[in-house]
Amino acid sequence: MPSPDNVMDKLVSLAKRRGFVFQSSEIYGGLGSVWDYGPLGVELKKNIKERWWRAMVHERDDIEGLDAAILMHPKVWEASGHVAGFTDPLVDCKQCKNRFRADDPRIKGTPGQPDAQCPVCGMKGTLTAPRLFNLMFKTFMGPVEEDAAVIYLRPETAQGIYVNYLNVLQASRQKVPFGIAQIGKAFRNEITPGNFIFRTREFEQMEMQFFVKPGTDLEWFEFWKAQRMQWVQGLGLHAEKLRFHQHAKDELAHYAKDAYDIQYEFPFGWQEFEGIHNRTDFDLSRHQQHSGKKLEYVDTATNERFVPYIVETSAGADRTTLVVLADAYHEEEVSGEKRVVMRFHPALAPIKAAVFPLVNKDGMPELARRIYDDVRRHVNVFYDDGGSIGRRYRRQDEAGTPFGITIDGQSTQDQTVTVRDRDTLLQDRVAADRLVAYLTEQLKG
Ligand code: GAP
Repeated sequence: MPSPDNVMDKLVSLAKRRGFVFQSSEIYGGLGSVWDYGPLGVELKKNIKERWWRAMVHERDDIEGLDAAILMHPKVWEASGHVAGFTDPLVDCKQCKNRFRADDPRIKGTPGQPDAQCPVCGMKGTLTAPRLFNLMFKTFMGPVEEDAAVIYLRPETAQGIYVNYLNVLQASRQKVPFGIAQIGKAFRNEITPGNFIFRTREFEQMEMQFFVKPGTDLEWFEFWKAQRMQWVQGLGLHAEKLRFHQHAKDELAHYAKDAYDIQYEFPFGWQEFEGIHNRTDFDLSRHQQHSGKKLEYVDTATNERFVPYIVETSAGADRTTLVVLADAYHEEEVSGEKRVVMRFHPALAPIKAAVFPLVNKDGMPELARRIYDDVRRHVNVFYDDGGSIGRRYRRQDEAGTPFGITIDGQSTQDQTVTVRDRDTLLQDRVAADRLVAYLTEQLKG
């Protein structure tokens, strides 16, 4: 068994080599825990986001979509509790200038006391007492860099939904219970980021806020827990690597009454990649209080008025992408040679099929090009005529392309092609004019 670090190292190296994920600003030495998605990565992440949007918005009558701005009125973050409470306790080493979370297990002794030892330079008594550090990125709005002009990059997309809840309700003519879904960037000045795209300072969230009548929240919480696990399982992941984890009292965020994580067993251990939270009426009540605007819902049938409770489902698009990458990575031996294959669910695969003329003569490239032009109108397909057919297959195995379509000598005679299955390595002979129907059938789900 390769060691966990080794698996992550291999994944990071494949991600770079094949164009899934690159380090941001690499030519300048990189920027800490910020990553860019290359040609394959952008397709993979887009497929995940689109699948989420289809399940959460298009396939439901009771959820509407939204795309709120990243920059919001600074009072939003006072109301939400993020200015006061979205903090980590940190300690500094006065000697080596490194900064640590106060609960860093490498610290020996009590920070601020003479016995405390810096885990980097090893000096004793140089660690400061813990100080609270806010995780929100700050910037300035307008030309003057003064306190009054401070605004934040949002640390969660949820607040953009809460402040628009009445707008969406009125515009869409929905009734409680109903939800609002959004995919967008969020930013956190994380102190201990790492593990590739697991914890980064800029990331994307796929969040849905479901507005319910108080008293029905427990039922909806169970409903959304089950729905989200079902969706995650539908990504074709290894079932034994998925589980729920309920937050203990001391793990709960400042807004939550109850929370469950969906965890995946990454090479570095079990970790959350999605959360289902019962946020009660905390957010809407706080916004009502801070803005002075009524955010009550009026049930026209019963004339009841209430501030809805919110059940939130919050997934990281990047973290889900890491789950999909880690789960798909597979090494095996084929005919005495090592094969690395990304076994993506076909619906998530960045490229669905690759077209290969067996050799670049005898009418094969012309037919291959015609087939390529035909298929690309339906699915994302790649044309490759460089190198031996074996090498071309291997390149697509690493890209996770489910099907390899080869145009050989027989193809120019009878207009059939071979279709190689990425996982079984079995080959089917398919009529060229049936290829689109064949692929559509195989890629379903
Ligand atoms: N609106 C609720 C909320 O933001 P969270 O548990 O802090 O809850 C939800 O974040 C999800 O967002 C996480 O499960 C994770 O997938 C993703 N996420 C949070 N911080 C992240 C980070 N620094 N890097 C990458 N993804 C992150």
